[in-house]
Amino acid sequence: MPRRALEHIRRMRGGAQAHLLRCDDGAYYVTKFQNNPQHLRILANEMLCGKLAQDLGLPVARPEVVEVAAELIDGTPELRVHKAGKWEKCRSGFQFGSRFPGSPLQTLVYDLLPDERLGDVENLGDFAGMVLFDQWTCNTNGRQVIFVAHAPPRRGYRVQMIDQGFCLNAGEWNFPDSPLRGLYHRHRVYAGIRGWADFEPWLTRLESLSPAALDQAAAGLPPEWYNADTEAMDRLLEQLDRRRQRIRELIAAAKNSSRQPFPNWS
Ligand SMILES: Nc1ncnc2c1ncn2[C@@H]1O[C@H](COP(=O)(O)OP(=O)(O)O)[C@@H](O)[C@H]1O
Ligand SMILES: [Mg+2]
Repeated sequence: MPRRALEHIRRMRGGAQAHLLRCDDGAYYVTKFQNNPQHLRILANEMLCGKLAQDLGLPVARPEVVEVAAELIDGTPELRVHKAGKWEKCRSGFQFGSRFPGSPLQTLVYDLLPDERLGDVENLGDFAGMVLFDQWTCNTNGRQVIFVAHAPPRRGYRVQMIDQGFCLNAGEWNFPDSPLRGLYHRHRVYAGIRGWADFEPWLTRLESLSPAALDQAAAGLPPEWYNADTEAMDRLLEQLDRRRQRIRELIAAAKNSSRQPFPNWS
């Protein structure tokens, strides 16, 4: 069931020119529009990869379809996209929403943490699962996350994956593999990786993921997010299915690359 957008909160930074919207379930969603300046398929990538990340048990910001009515766009001058030197209205209809954890007035969310705070992240080990995911889906951007501060008096943070738009090589839907694909810019987060065991349980889950799970993840996508090109979608799912068997090879290439992202894995 799509969430219905009720109110515009603010514009977000970033190339997709997303907007934070409050929806009818009481939650807030960072919403990317079909006519974003990057690519229509960004929305399909976010939803498909977001669902697959959930299936693997990775901490991804919850992906949802957000329905935005033409009346909300007409009544909200901020809901515009800047494209090729011109402003145009955000498109109405089904858009992609990444759920904001909690409420924007109460929950502290950071794009970055200084290295000395990384020890306060309760699920830092999940970064290993993200490497596996980004190699599998060929994320051609660096891994992006948010750090969500626990509500006081609890200390510390929880990391969540965001921005799966450039997985599947953005609008290309192909897999130009390279050992450093999708790594997080601070390799410090990988210091805990000492061997294959640190990629569990995600590695086993990925290797045993059923083709039906892939089909199911794709079934929730509004067809207009990929121009209803079911042939391209079928090809994409087939490739994702086949690539599962290569995941150890892809991780090994990252490990052995000159930048040595996993210095404690010998
Ligand atoms: N689920 C979320 N919760 C909180 N903030 C988010 C969420 N998703 C994205 N953001 C914020 O919005 C910004 C833009 O989102 P992102 O998915 O990175 O879009 P872009 O494709 O434009 O880079 C991020 O840098 C982050 O600050
Ligand atoms: Mg981004």
